[in-house]
Amino acid sequence: MMSRMRVAITKKPAESGARSAPAGELKTACIRTFGCQMNVHDSDRMRRMILDAGLSEVQDYESADLVVLNTCYVRENAVDRVRGHLGQLNRLRREGKVKKIALTGCIGAAEESAELKEQYGIDLVLGTHNTYELAEFIGLPTMRETYTPNLPGVEGRHSAFVTIMTGCNYRCSYCIVPAVRGRMICRSMDDVLEEVQRLTAGGTEYITLLGQTVDAWRESGKRFADLLKRVAEIAPRVWFTTSHPSNMEDRTLRIIGESPSIVKRLHLPVQSGSDRMLKMMHRGYKSDRYRRKIEVFREEVADGTLSTDIIVGHPGETEEDHEATLRLVEDCRFDTAYIFKFSPRRGTEAAEMPDRVPDEVVQRRFLEVLRAVEQNALRQNRDKIGSIEEIFIREGRTRNGRAIGETWSGHAVHVPAEAEPGSYVKARIESAGPHVLYAGEPAN
Ligand code: 5AD
Ligand code: SF4
Repeated sequence: MMSRMRVAITKKPAESGARSAPAGELKTACIRTFGCQMNVHDSDRMRRMILDAGLSEVQDYESADLVVLNTCYVRENAVDRVRGHLGQLNRLRREGKVKKIALTGCIGAAEESAELKEQYGIDLVLGTHNTYELAEFIGLPTMRETYTPNLPGVEGRHSAFVTIMTGCNYRCSYCIVPAVRGRMICRSMDDVLEEVQRLTAGGTEYITLLGQTVDAWRESGKRFADLLKRVAEIAPRVWFTTSHPSNMEDRTLRIIGESPSIVKRLHLPVQSGSDRMLKMMHRGYKSDRYRRKIEVFREEVADGTLSTDIIVGHPGETEEDHEATLRLVEDCRFDTAYIFKFSPRRGTEAAEMPDRVPDEVVQRRFLEVLRAVEQNALRQNRDKIGSIEEIFIREGRTRNGRAIGETWSGHAVHVPAEAEPGSYVKARIESAGPHVLYAGEPAN
């Protein structure tokens, strides 16, 4: 198993060579986050360190003394994007603006980070297990315990992520995550519940439980369903991501349906509809088993929505495999799908596989899957027109000033109102696109 993963090189603290920046030199910091919600949460923790060290956070590179790029390594274009940012930062550094650059997250944990460090003169490179070393770099005493994943970040006022497990014990052919995030480590139920309690008591409305395979969480006989049930009894609004079909118990689906505080949206990545591809990817299930899970979800969760991840163009994918994916998309009626073109990650099994799919074929398949998903999503979203929904208002606004919200069924909604983040409004759905519902003026 391990021989496939040749980039398992999460840095130990002693190897990272972090030297602290001269005290007082750094007054402002900007954190840029790429990738998944796990990274958003890690950035929250680094934000806490930065504020604890007396730096103030700024939103643009130009006014930042320290820039932290918290990166994603899941697809190749993620590295290209980060290169673009590093180039820009180096230009600013030459102009005397940015003083220090830190690279953290999954690229920081991968071999390629050494190359980037050299090429762009990065001051601090950290992996995913030693982000607490940023504390020392910005002049705080090193406190491994103080900034471990068990500690919360600086949460938004109304929503918070709670990490319940890190790492992943699967070995999907294409995926770099096990190499950069390591094997699964589960937080204790007591710890998680304590944090949820504290957040809720402090006014947090919305808790999202996080993990690479969140439904694989377990603790001496207890499974994810047990934890979810307890969290849903404490917090007013709960969601979780991301799940693995092999871990998803029917019991969990029932709890989603029964608990009034759980958002009725399931994100269950399928990756492919072809059994041959699922086997090659080491996903551990066949497409029919996935379909059955979805049937249970539909039975247990009235008015639920479903999202998934799909990879097109994995090496060896034939036209027949692609058609099987299109059939699965048709059968499962996803409300959203994140569709990815296969991207070879150095050190993964799939990167070494023969039978690469030509780019133009990948592009065509990508568009075919996208069209199938969007047509279906649009049809389903249009069915919501006319319904009155209770909408949770999130932070931020659309470009044209509408509030952004979420229904209990997990649909994204735009609301034309001055609604307060963290509050609920009731409004009628007036129209729908493939990704978003549009509400009218709220009634309350
Ligand atoms: N190429 C393309 N997509 C990938 N994903 C993970 N690794 C790769 C890769 N090498 C996708 C999977 C996963 C999502 C987070 O990213 O669909 O579920
Ligand atoms: Fe990557 Fe998810 Fe597979 Fe783990 S289960 S190896 S995180 S795709």
